[in-house]
Amino acid sequence: MIRCCVILSILVSFVNCKLNYVSSSDSDVNLDSYQLIGKYGYRPEKHLVETEDGYIVSLFRIVGNGPPVLLAHGLADSSDSWLVLGPSMSLAYQLSDAGFDIWLYNSRGNKYSRGSTRDFSEKEYWDFSFEEMGTKDMPACIDYILRVTSREKITYVGFSQGTTIFFVMCSSKPEYNEKINHAVLLAPVAWVNTIEYPFINFLGRYLKFLIVMFDNLGIHEIFTENVRRTRQGIECNKSVLVCDFDYYINFGVTNFNNLALNKIDIIDSHIPAGASTKTFAHFIQGYRDKQFQKFDYGFGKNFALYSSIYPPQYNVTKVTVPLSLIASESDKLSDIEDVKILVSKLRTIKRFSVFNKTTDFTHIEFAYGKRVKELVNNPVTNILLEEIKKSNET
Ligand SMILES: *[C@@H]1O[C@H](CO)[C@@H](O)[C@H](O)[C@H]1NC(C)=O
Ligand SMILES: *[C@@H]1O[C@H](CO)[C@@H](O)[C@H](O)[C@H]1NC(C)=O
Ligand SMILES: *[C@@H]1O[C@H](CO)[C@@H](O)[C@H](O)[C@H]1NC(C)=O
Repeated sequence: MIRCCVILSILVSFVNCKLNYVSSSDSDVNLDSYQLIGKYGYRPEKHLVETEDGYIVSLFRIVGNGPPVLLAHGLADSSDSWLVLGPSMSLAYQLSDAGFDIWLYNSRGNKYSRGSTRDFSEKEYWDFSFEEMGTKDMPACIDYILRVTSREKITYVGFSQGTTIFFVMCSSKPEYNEKINHAVLLAPVAWVNTIEYPFINFLGRYLKFLIVMFDNLGIHEIFTENVRRTRQGIECNKSVLVCDFDYYINFGVTNFNNLALNKIDIIDSHIPAGASTKTFAHFIQGYRDKQFQKFDYGFGKNFALYSSIYPPQYNVTKVTVPLSLIASESDKLSDIEDVKILVSKLRTIKRFSVFNKTTDFTHIEFAYGKRVKELVNNPVTNILLEEIKKSNET
């Protein structure tokens, strides 16, 4: 433990002495979602949405007159992920340019969504996973957007955990299927039977023990923004070993070269954005049990909560929203074998495209890759425009 602290403090001082790399105050490195939108001449708004269980989550908006599109980010990330590559490369701006009214979700517990309407203890506050994001946050956000825009439906775009939340919502609260006219799901994640993530076997095997340990240590949040702050200022070039390791641990990134390296300081200053330990544990349970299921509390509490000693499955057959899926054979977190399980159960797939191995397109490239415009943003924009055209014709 002591040795660990020594190493840590050496690391921190190493990082601190490099802090003078940090750029001027209007550099994108230092801007939040609202400021990033405003800086490039788009009209930003910030909205606070209350959930039925007392959390307050933030939506950022790029105001437009067209149909509303809701974008949902990945694990431990935030609305920034749709913006940080700037107007020429990030999806949110491109969809805004195409005429859509853009709404950017922030999951409870991330740096923008820390509010609450009641007094939570630290432990109570962090007692959530993607279950609550899907059954509480997202329904509240969708109802809010429909109310503000006086529309009947929104279009949904999710990446990674942003797709998990979608499946949780549409299977647990099927009435929300009626409020979404189309969903584009990037690197979809439901079953995680064969994901490759650093130490996943270890995490799966010792999960029960780890949950108790983290709980006793009072560690309810992981991938915190603090990690980011201490790291800010390191120029994360491919040659910088510390950053490579960091991206590997956080995102399983192995081929750093495919990221938008010219923007790496901006990406790096915005992620991670915070997540609950329970969310992470919930994903690991899915890996351990090879199921897409509600949180496993152990026999006793499961029985009390679910009237069953095992956690109930999410029934994705209940999804009736028309879907477009984009996956990649080189994605180790949205593994193609797992995506196939999902695809075999979904009944409303309109489009399903897969990047082959040769393309070598990995998970976080869907948000931060240097080829994101060509391989993701252009197809997504075209899909949404096609869908809008279709709905206008009928
Ligand atoms: C890191 O990348 C930036 C931008 O590409 C470049 O200006 C800088 O010289 C690089 N630093 C190192 C240590 O390679
Ligand atoms: C899942 O949902 C479908 C569609 O509503 C239903 O027909 C099926 O019985 C459900 N499966 C389970 C195991 O509940
Ligand atoms: C992989 O996809 C690329 C881009 O669509 C294509 O040009 C290439 O021929 C494909 N390679 C294989 C082995 O299928």
